[in-house]
Amino acid sequence: MTEYAVNGQRLWNNILELGKIGRGTDGVSRVSFSPADMEGRRWLLEKMQTAGLDAHIDHVGNVFGSIPSLSTKKILVGSHLDTVPNGGMFDGALGVLAALECAQTIKEHNVNLAYGIQVAAFSNEEGTQAGGGLFGSRYIAEGISEAEQESVNPVIKKAGLRGGRPAVDRQPFQPSEYVCYLELHIEQGGVLDSTKEHIGVVEGIVGIHNLDVAFKGVPNHAGTTPMAQRKDALLGAAALILEVPGTVLEYGSGFTVGTCGQVDVFPGARNVIPGHVRVSIEVRDLEPDIADRVLEALMEKAKNIARSRQLDVELTPVSKTPSAKMDSEIQAVILDAATSLGFKARLMPSGASHDAAVFAKYVPTAMIFVPSRHGISHSSDEWTEPEDCINGANVLLSTLLRLAT
Ligand code: HGY
Ligand code: MN
Ligand code: MN
Repeated sequence: MTEYAVNGQRLWNNILELGKIGRGTDGVSRVSFSPADMEGRRWLLEKMQTAGLDAHIDHVGNVFGSIPSLSTKKILVGSHLDTVPNGGMFDGALGVLAALECAQTIKEHNVNLAYGIQVAAFSNEEGTQAGGGLFGSRYIAEGISEAEQESVNPVIKKAGLRGGRPAVDRQPFQPSEYVCYLELHIEQGGVLDSTKEHIGVVEGIVGIHNLDVAFKGVPNHAGTTPMAQRKDALLGAAALILEVPGTVLEYGSGFTVGTCGQVDVFPGARNVIPGHVRVSIEVRDLEPDIADRVLEALMEKAKNIARSRQLDVELTPVSKTPSAKMDSEIQAVILDAATSLGFKARLMPSGASHDAAVFAKYVPTAMIFVPSRHGISHSSDEWTEPEDCINGANVLLSTLLRLAT
């Protein structure tokens, strides 16, 4: 098999150019369906068209660019363009731009493909604005419930898209039409950075179990209510939040993580004792029953805290994204591609979730990681060296050619 190399400079220029879209004083904010996100999608559409791909944006913001082939089967390769608020310029973007670069390189060299290549940038992977995460990939692979679609459509329509009508317009996903789904992504953790290895071959992606806990007390005057007579909902939430690390350690697997990323305090005035507080809790593990075990322990603790503080408590399971095993045969292909290119590579789990977790339920799916400096991500300090980006794109290209020729 002929080994080709991507145009590294073009890839890096595209990363820098896209990284300017949505950039603020503290990182990149292309939050799903925001004007910056839509500007990024239109920018990508143009790049795909320039590269000679057959490109379009669908009703919910997914961007696709294809190289057709005589076969009805294709390889789907991509990631996401939306970012968390004040995020970095590599999370998602690297996977999309590397996929575009591979397709462009394949076209430039007139490589004879046994299957088509479909480059994809899925919408709303982060789920920041509305709906659950992995939205665009779930819309394609399995459909979105009417309720979730209705909750997201206003945001999608405000972005100038038509929005989804699950019952009407989603083409049923045909797994038989796909050879596999491939995704290159920054590791977002510190393993490769510390071991100085070039490539991670992902074995599995954690599942994310989301719970909301609402404590209800009595809002009252901050100046005239004696401390002993207060029913302060925020103290209940604080007591529960402090229980999370110990509960994860006690009931988790050692790889389990638990995070309280959001706290809503009502009424949220400086001089009012909080009457109602919502805390988000997400727990991640490769094994769903371990994540459930940790959340069950936290729900028990929430009830005990409420009782001891004379508060009411409401426990609302929010969502569960499934953990996903990556295809072992394609893992071997990636490993072979990486070592043939002279890179040091390791098999590893992913503590972050990805669109690949959706497709793994339906088609053979695999992921390639490249190092994140100091393991930082979802932050303006997110950084991956140009050389690592180009290495990852070359391993992606070599894997694609091993599978598609
Ligand atoms: O949260 C995650 O794991 C992913 O970055 N959306
Ligand atoms: Mn992310
Ligand atoms: Mn991501």
